[in-house]
Amino acid sequence: MIELKNIHKSYQMGPVAVEVLKGVNLSIASGELLSIVGQSGCGKSTLMNIIGLLDSPSSGAYVLDGKPVAQMNDDDLSEIRNRKIGFVFQQFNLLPKLTALQNVALPLVYRGTPEKERNRAAREVLEKVGMLEREHHRPAELSGGQQQRVAIARALVGNPSIILADEPTGALDEKVGQEIVELFSRLNREEAITIFIITHDMTIARQCGGFVRMKDGVIHDPKTQHH
Ligand SMILES: Nc1ncnc2c1ncn2[C@@H]1O[C@H](COP(=O)(O)OP(=O)(O)OP(=O)(O)O)[C@@H](O)[C@H]1O
Ligand SMILES: [Mg+2]
Repeated sequence: MIELKNIHKSYQMGPVAVEVLKGVNLSIASGELLSIVGQSGCGKSTLMNIIGLLDSPSSGAYVLDGKPVAQMNDDDLSEIRNRKIGFVFQQFNLLPKLTALQNVALPLVYRGTPEKERNRAAREVLEKVGMLEREHHRPAELSGGQQQRVAIARALVGNPSIILADEPTGALDEKVGQEIVELFSRLNREEAITIFIITHDMTIARQCGGFVRMKDGVIHDPKTQHH
């Protein structure tokens, strides 16, 4: 469960503070698939970085699975980030010299998992995203949609309970983008992973089932507007 209460975030630019998040309230239940839409520059990635423990709010409360994030030290934060959260980005961010298998296994290298176990786990998630046949291909030898599937496998390999995806279909054509959302949707259904997707595309947002809208640094949540 992700609970954000009255989250503010300002960036100090020389003498001026730019306020990006102006009191965000948002709850994402465990096992929920939710997307967020909003204009460029409105603060979506900033919010996602806070949810992903990559950045901290200027004020407000963030409670993750019952634990206040403000009370965690740097070691706790990186531990939870590494164990609990998988990230997916618009540009896939795969390492060009590594094969699909090696890219997917990389997070486990940092965890100190032995090679045999790493490769077993990497093959298991490549299979889940339908990319086992391409395990020895390098990113340049894969299509955009295939690269994103490999990147999703890399996000999955550590067994996260949450996946955060920042414009995961932004670099893909419409059909391939929809296939990627179908994959997220299946992972959400079958593995009960909480998935939060930033998108510009209303078709994608609707395909996710639920979406919230960000505007002027706050979230307009159709889920709660009628309460
Ligand atoms: N490190 C930073 N320092 C100062 N300002 C920042 C920083 N990061 C983001 N901003 C500002 O915060 C605002 C929100 O940025 P953010 O990246 O969250 O937008 P976004 O909604 O993800 O936009 P897009 O859809 O274009 O990706 C922008 O106006 C940006 O200039
Ligand atoms: Mg962004």
